[in-house]
Amino acid sequence: MVNKITSLAEYLKKYEESVADPDGFWGNVAESHFWRKKWDKVLDWKFEGEGAPDVNWFVNGKLNITENIFERNMFMRKDQVAIIWEPNDPKDKEIKLTYGELFDKVKQFANGLKKLGIKKGDRVALYLPMVPELVISMLACARIGAIHSIVFAGFSASALADRINDAKANLLITSDGGFRGTKSIPMKGIVDEALETCPSIKNAIILEHTKDEVKIVKGRDLWWHDVIKGVSTDNKAEEMDSEDVLFILYTSGSTGKPKGVVHTIAGYMVYAEYTFKNVFQYSDGDIFWCTADIGWVTGHSYIVYGPLLTGATSVMFEGVPTYPDAGRFWDIVDKYKVNQFYTAPTAIRALVAQGNQWVTGHDLSSLKVLGTVGEPINEEAWRWYHDLVGKARCPIVDTWWQTETGGIMITPLAGITPTKPSLATLPLPGIQPILVDPEGNELKGNGVEGILCIKFPWPGMIRTTYGDHKRCFTTYFSAYKNLYLTGDGAKRDEEGYYRIIGRIDDVINVSGHRIGTAEVEDAINQHPRVIESAVVGYPHDIKGSGIYAYVICEDLSDDNLASIENEIRETVNKFIGPIAKPDKIQIVTGLPKTRSGKIMRRILRKIGEGDATNLGDTSTLLDPGVVEEIINGAKVPVKR
Ligand code: WTA
Repeated sequence: MVNKITSLAEYLKKYEESVADPDGFWGNVAESHFWRKKWDKVLDWKFEGEGAPDVNWFVNGKLNITENIFERNMFMRKDQVAIIWEPNDPKDKEIKLTYGELFDKVKQFANGLKKLGIKKGDRVALYLPMVPELVISMLACARIGAIHSIVFAGFSASALADRINDAKANLLITSDGGFRGTKSIPMKGIVDEALETCPSIKNAIILEHTKDEVKIVKGRDLWWHDVIKGVSTDNKAEEMDSEDVLFILYTSGSTGKPKGVVHTIAGYMVYAEYTFKNVFQYSDGDIFWCTADIGWVTGHSYIVYGPLLTGATSVMFEGVPTYPDAGRFWDIVDKYKVNQFYTAPTAIRALVAQGNQWVTGHDLSSLKVLGTVGEPINEEAWRWYHDLVGKARCPIVDTWWQTETGGIMITPLAGITPTKPSLATLPLPGIQPILVDPEGNELKGNGVEGILCIKFPWPGMIRTTYGDHKRCFTTYFSAYKNLYLTGDGAKRDEEGYYRIIGRIDDVINVSGHRIGTAEVEDAINQHPRVIESAVVGYPHDIKGSGIYAYVICEDLSDDNLASIENEIRETVNKFIGPIAKPDKIQIVTGLPKTRSGKIMRRILRKIGEGDATNLGDTSTLLDPGVVEEIINGAKVPVKR
């Protein structure tokens, strides 16, 4: 397979080349893609100064990413399965779409979108369960040059509306509902509520999936099956520029407002394909399964774009790991003879807790490679995954990356890079990580720990934050000159391997989902009885981090004290969604603040972790007495 590294020596050589001559290296990788017109220059960039960041890969190249998935692969793969869809309920029938079939569906739906007046540059919001039509919608947008903005189907009406409004999307594609285990989620109801405050939306396309009854708003709502009725499957792809936008994906940051991370076509395409085939060591004919939801970046890059660009067979699953029982993942691995399996540490920990009997008894001999993503994997979970699932024969790739990076950045290459439990190991070719101290001084050599930054552009990197370019600069490029700030802390061990420690900002990684503390606080503060709140993360056995909210309320009486916690949880559910509901809520009468009014989260974090012994200097606090009160009422056993 072209551009696939096959040995450690080759990796080391490619890495050297990629640093010495990035243009030569990436230009060479991109040769294997299908260009309507080749680029004039591989890279043009600046991280500083007027208009920064300004990063352009494959300058003036013309292409369409779907031509790289379909037309480029069609000769060889027309009858090869592209997508295997496994339904929530194992009693329902799976769907297998070959490259030829998927191509026809994409072209037909692309024509349907055009009929509705959707054109190049328009933003289309997708709020769908994990069904093949989600892939079809993404690729149909890309085919006609529309920008997709996928909103995870677990977000609430209010969170959906915020994202639609920020992107000023004019079309929403959704479903009557989705299945999750024993539940059917009434998505259309959520959409109806969201669209009351979304003036930019002209139409909503609704996929019939759960067949639950839905309200149809005349003049706005259209059924998916009507949009494609009688529509031709002939469609010529729109010619796009390398740096035209492919998609927007919202992610949480340190402020309450989610950021629309923007990725552009050519760089993302080259990077998604390159990382997919190298990290997972995909070989022709392998069956690849990434269990993420396409609503997050992992699904974008490693269910859809990376695998399909490579010409792989990619499994997608609508359900949950524990339905109908905790052996479901292994049933699916066995059923489709999955070769590469990619999941999140939180899922592994949840399955560890269910007991080994759910794994043993399944034939997992097809597995060749195991992967993890989204958060640091603890050694116990790593061992279980390695020994029980992989029978000690499958390398584990612990892949570190972010929504902003577009693809995997620091990772072993499966079976090539010697691994160590809980270390993401080494950077991929083209990736130049550096560790700095808080003042921005580079920490050289091995055995150092600091703030992880990247010092040179890579093709898959973020280009801007939608509608607010300055925010992109401030968030990622202003802390340290000429460096991209990841927001993670990391350690480089004696061998030069990287261990990712976790976020250094006010973002909590809950079950691998990024949640901004400010976002949760804003939601909690919507409750009429809440005066103020402060949210921190705390260690959680399964989720990695749980959400701990300290809340000041007014007018609390014995009557409403009992219900206030649930009401606060419901408020968060309403404004963000179930993923952001606090695990612990502690009602307090005051918060530790400095004299200038800043909440000292460091103290709350310590108390939340159950470690109130060493709170550091509290003398600058306005009222040190509140700390004692909070410790005494803390929701966790406080070690003294
Ligand atoms: C964390 C997910 C440790 C990290 C692809 C990062 C990880 C954030 C790992 C990005 C890993 C991701 N080890 N931590 N292998 N992978 N993270 O944007 O804190 O949803 O900044 O992208 O997840 O989360 P995001």
